[in-house]
Amino acid sequence: RDKGWMTEHLVLYQGFWLTPDSALKAVISIQNRFYPRPSDIFLASSPKTGTTWLKALIFATLNRTCYDFSTHPLLVHNPHDCVPLLDTFIHQNDLESWPSPRFLSTHMPYTLLPCSMTCASSGCKLVYVCRNPKDVLVSKWKFMNKLRPKHLPPLSLDEAFKLFCEGVSHYGPYWDHVLGYWKASLENPEKILFLKYEDLKREPLEGVKRLAEFLGKPFLVEEEKAGMVQGIVRLCSFENLRNLEVNKRDVIRFSKDIVVENRNFFRKGNVGDSENYLTAEMMQLLDEITKKKFFSSRLIFGA
Ligand code: A3P
Repeated sequence: RDKGWMTEHLVLYQGFWLTPDSALKAVISIQNRFYPRPSDIFLASSPKTGTTWLKALIFATLNRTCYDFSTHPLLVHNPHDCVPLLDTFIHQNDLESWPSPRFLSTHMPYTLLPCSMTCASSGCKLVYVCRNPKDVLVSKWKFMNKLRPKHLPPLSLDEAFKLFCEGVSHYGPYWDHVLGYWKASLENPEKILFLKYEDLKREPLEGVKRLAEFLGKPFLVEEEKAGMVQGIVRLCSFENLRNLEVNKRDVIRFSKDIVVENRNFFRKGNVGDSENYLTAEMMQLLDEITKKKFFSSRLIFGA
């Protein structure tokens, strides 16, 4: 269906647009041969909503053994190396041999996850992060142009906008992806924590405390007094991560064809950057789609 974003067509599978050679195969593998453990933690997200940041924040929150941040693994490893994407690792690795607790990420829509991951009795926990659709679109447009093969002309904003509004984006329609996790989080708040990028940007300390509590690892009084929460927020801040050597130089191989330079995951990290690119008409149309899609859900985006 779609030659717009990349060279590979997207196919519509059970309401979502997926790359047939990677995402679709991953859905089938996850549904058929992934065995979640009650101690597993999953970060779920649509691409460009702050996945890299949340990987870092959750990884640092889970792995806080001392107050010394000068030797933290995130200083020398990219967040994507610390927290593998289940959707690709399911093919490349023997996840069964991994020690518990496993912390993995996924871009899969909620309805495509196996019941063994989503049913309340499975024990594992899911954190979902979403972001206002206008910033997601601009972030995605910029990112996809970095990945585009040299022989293709850059994707115009008009083309990207049209595809995104039609719902044709990786793991899209974006709104349906968000709604799936939103509804599930309302039904089962102990299992799914639903977060917004904008809230985390506004109140990162509160966000990290919430994450820690949800994951069953609340901060102890002495940890708070020692500045542990502030330390995690500082370590994982956009400015800090972006300026680390590891995030400036290395690449991540998501699949045979998709190799991404780490630095491409750190662009601006702002709320509302879409205003610098989208026309007033584009913003209005996206707002209208969002309003319509979320009408009966009580879900709103401030920005
Ligand atoms: P922008 O393109 O708007 O700058 P993902 O990790 O899901 O691919 O999302 C990438 C977006 O998150 C990019 O947004 C990127 O700059 C931003 N980002 C990456 N690390 C961040 C951090 N530590 N804090 C805030 N935003 C971050």
